[in-house]
Amino acid sequence: MLYFTGDLHGEYSRYLCLERYTGEKLTGDDFLFVCGDYGFLFYPVGSNGYTEQQRQLNEIEKLPYTTLFCDGNHENFDLLESYPVEVWNGGKVHRIRSNILHLMRGQVYNIDGTKVFSMGGAYSIDKYMRQSGYSWWSQERPNNDEYKEASANLVSAENNVDIIISHTAPREIIYRMGRVPDMHDAELTGFLEWIMYEVSFKKWYFGHWHIDQVITDKVRAIYFDVVRYEEKGSL
Ligand SMILES: [Fe+2]
Repeated sequence: MLYFTGDLHGEYSRYLCLERYTGEKLTGDDFLFVCGDYGFLFYPVGSNGYTEQQRQLNEIEKLPYTTLFCDGNHENFDLLESYPVEVWNGGKVHRIRSNILHLMRGQVYNIDGTKVFSMGGAYSIDKYMRQSGYSWWSQERPNNDEYKEASANLVSAENNVDIIISHTAPREIIYRMGRVPDMHDAELTGFLEWIMYEVSFKKWYFGHWHIDQVITDKVRAIYFDVVRYEEKGSL
């Protein structure tokens, strides 16, 4: 089964209460997708925070299921990029642990016949109070190569996937939430909007906005909820 949740921000307790949300015990056949701001790779190497987060990742590795996260804007990208890249189920990942994988931007994965497209990243509106290389990283938004790779991979998939996972949302969806897209994120939210209209998909889950809300019959903002993917029916 595929489950989806929102920004974890490195809160280990979210793992501990996960099954209260699902009402089901997750097994080795299950995947937990996190829609960005995973946050367990945040503190710089050598800091106390880094040591503690590595210990937590070791604990998470003992869980039977696999965690798959796209990146948000609050990740230590220098640290993320230090992990080896490999191809997993047809798309590129950073392997953090045996069962913890970072879904890189613009990739399409085929997981037991279900095609998942990932597009992480977003602009940090709180950038002004963060320090570059310590609590903020310039890679938080996709670069040209990542956009090109995303487009090429979608073309290869004939613009047809089952699930889209992203951190922020298509521009129109942001307005439908009663929010306003940040101008610094115009390229990304515009790109996501283009995907929303040009790519066939069944369900789209995104985080970033720290809200649990079904926006359309196919698009859902997710934060604390843990949702099991159903091909048809409710989000
Ligand atoms: Fe967040």
